[in-house]
Amino acid sequence: MKLTFLKLVNFRNYLNLEVSFHPNLNIIYGKNGSGKTNLVEAIYVLALTRSFRIVGDKTLVKDGESLCKVEGTSLDSFRTNYSIIINKDGKNVKINNNKVAKLSDYVSKLPIVLFNPDDLRFIKDTPSTRRKTLNISISELDLEYLRYLSYYSKVLKQRNAYLKQMFINHTKDLSYLNILTEKLVSYGIYLHVRRKKFIDMINEYVGYFYEKITGVKGVKLEYLSDYNNLDRDALLSLYNKYLDKDLTFGKTHLGVHTDDLRFVLNSKDFKKYGSEGQQKNAIIAYKFSEIEIFKKVKDSYPILILDDLFSELDKEKKDNILKLLDDNIQTFITTTDLDLFPSINQYGYKKFKISDGSIIEEGVHERR
Ligand SMILES: Nc1ncnc2c1ncn2[C@@H]1O[C@H](COP(=O)(O)OP(=O)(O)O)[C@@H](O)[C@H]1O
Ligand SMILES: [Mg+2]
Repeated sequence: MKLTFLKLVNFRNYLNLEVSFHPNLNIIYGKNGSGKTNLVEAIYVLALTRSFRIVGDKTLVKDGESLCKVEGTSLDSFRTNYSIIINKDGKNVKINNNKVAKLSDYVSKLPIVLFNPDDLRFIKDTPSTRRKTLNISISELDLEYLRYLSYYSKVLKQRNAYLKQMFINHTKDLSYLNILTEKLVSYGIYLHVRRKKFIDMINEYVGYFYEKITGVKGVKLEYLSDYNNLDRDALLSLYNKYLDKDLTFGKTHLGVHTDDLRFVLNSKDFKKYGSEGQQKNAIIAYKFSEIEIFKKVKDSYPILILDDLFSELDKEKKDNILKLLDDNIQTFITTTDLDLFPSINQYGYKKFKISDGSIIEEGVHERR
């Protein structure tokens, strides 16, 4: 999938912008604060109807304006037009001029894999950040997963509320709790199986990409879950064992809502032992693995966005990453420093200079 055209109106620091992109590589450079991340954020919003930044949609609208608009055109075997208008009351999403009624049913036709410096949170933060990232990755591939995620969290809430009620009222009647537990387990198993499958697929590639970037073998992503290796009956009896503890604290201790992930190298956890650079490279390897999974599952390459990836990486690793790019994958690279692309000439690309919300196309290079 390739994004050929983008138009912004009142989007962050852009008043009005129209730009045609190169099908292979787009290099977007400019000073800090000039609007590079804003530009790739607009592409992300177009694809997924929301930002990757932890902000409300309202901050996407240019200061002092009441609405913003993002429009774009993608091309694979056919052309698709997207449009999103965001104002204080919500958003209006259209594909080929047809309104998308339910945003929760919106499966992206414009799949995207994005690296942003904030992604380091994937290693540094709490398990809930990792689960969130995992959930976004899997839902981009499988909308059913998103549905089960909401079933699960609904039952979890009900179960926790009922545990509290039992504790307060000294009820001993377990029949309703058992119904909730059984539901929780069956939705939980569904989510667990999907997560495991996805992580297994990541592991088919992540070691390969990490080695390509750093020369070091043996990186893996580990899935830590209460549900690992247990079937339904084993799980139900485990919930029974935890019953007293669950009752005392009024919450459910076991389940996929406590799942976690970690990158390991020779069974050492990256969170504890990895340097910042190693952590970054592990995340990049994860993103490249995601691209391969998209290709396998959806039979189409996503758009790749590498936002500010190249700051703080040494020349060799930068170049190793650039060698991983592929003509089939349309890639957007933002950078403050243009002097970092020795192997770039093997690709076709366009170069754009951003300054204070304006964009200047500085030339096209076609592949040698
Ligand atoms: N809603 C908004 N309205 C106007 N300007 C905004 C808005 N949101 C962010 N900005 C401006 O965008 C700039 C940051 O752009 P960004 O794309 O993050 O920069 P960088 O090029 O460093 O990635 C800042 O100057 C900020 O003030
Ligand atoms: Mg930025």
